[in-house]
Amino acid sequence: MSTTILGIESSCDDTSAAVVRDGYMLSNVIASQDVHRKYGGVVPELASRAHQQNILPVVDTALKQAGVERTEVDAVAFTRGPGLLGSLLVGTSFAKGFALATNAKLVEVNHLQAHILSNFLKEHGKEKDFPQFPFLCLLVSGGHTQIIVMRDYLDMKIIGHTIDDAAGEAFDKCAKVMGLPYPGGPVIDRYAKEGNAQAFQFSKPKIEGLDYSFSGLKTSFLYTLRDKCKDDAQFIEHHLADLCASLQHIIVNILMSKLEQAMQQTGIREVAIAGGVAANSGLRSALTATAERCGWKAFLPEFRFTTDNAAMIALTGYFKYRKNLFASQDIAPTARYENVNF
Ligand code: KG4
Ligand code: ZN
Repeated sequence: MSTTILGIESSCDDTSAAVVRDGYMLSNVIASQDVHRKYGGVVPELASRAHQQNILPVVDTALKQAGVERTEVDAVAFTRGPGLLGSLLVGTSFAKGFALATNAKLVEVNHLQAHILSNFLKEHGKEKDFPQFPFLCLLVSGGHTQIIVMRDYLDMKIIGHTIDDAAGEAFDKCAKVMGLPYPGGPVIDRYAKEGNAQAFQFSKPKIEGLDYSFSGLKTSFLYTLRDKCKDDAQFIEHHLADLCASLQHIIVNILMSKLEQAMQQTGIREVAIAGGVAANSGLRSALTATAERCGWKAFLPEFRFTTDNAAMIALTGYFKYRKNLFASQDIAPTARYENVNF
């Protein structure tokens, strides 16, 4: 008998719904919210309002594209956290209502766990290789930067994390300083392709163990710009590509050195990346090159599964469904998901 899961994602500024059947993605619909662009970041109140407008049509389209009737849904999996509370409330309330109306089971999902498990999304007609347990995952998003040992689908241990800013935040904040639009990561990635990565040097943090820090880099970047702009008011415009290339180079370098240290310490030979920053071209090529040099097997998620999407939520829901890990109607969303080791 097959298992059909409807996934709902509404943790930040993307409203998404997806259908996964027996681990295979049948649809994945995402409505992004352009309303935040002019504010240079996500405005929580506007995000929840937009989720409310988007959620019904997005779910309807996801079911239609999958060719699935509401009554065929065995469980509805929703992002419980971490994220913006008002945004999470929209997805959670919708999921509860849907489950109640259709008699489907309810499954709560940790957004970060889902990012990692996106590496296991299957599609009909597309055969691919999946990581074997145990493997390491570098999770790099707008809010998180973690190195995780994956012992099984639902058995993970965080062995390193950022003590201040996340890697995506470093990209976004530095982009803002240069007057680039939000989110800055993809814009920096684009300019970096035309620039010289050695043009500017920024300080690399000295943090013990496998933890990360990006706040010092942000300050070093800001001071460099402040000093250079004293002599040349147009400094940023004149050196945009080199600034982006140098910044991306140091962020990737920081990420990769701790990852390499973690691989050595654990003796694990397979590695995956996940989260929005996993779309970064510099990080992807550095991981491929390091894997080749060190003899690791590396897994890069498809671009469309790196940023927020409900397919990863539905897939995580599927793994939890198989273990009978259901939620009840009194479940509430949580902005901070404290169950760190999943
Ligand atoms: O995972 P995600 O969609 O949302 C969170 O859960 O945080 O990640 C969004 C982050 C943003 O900081 C964005 O700037 C970054 O991912 N990002 C990138 C790229 N694409 C998205 N950063 C660097 N290079 C990219 N190509
Ligand atoms: Zn995310």
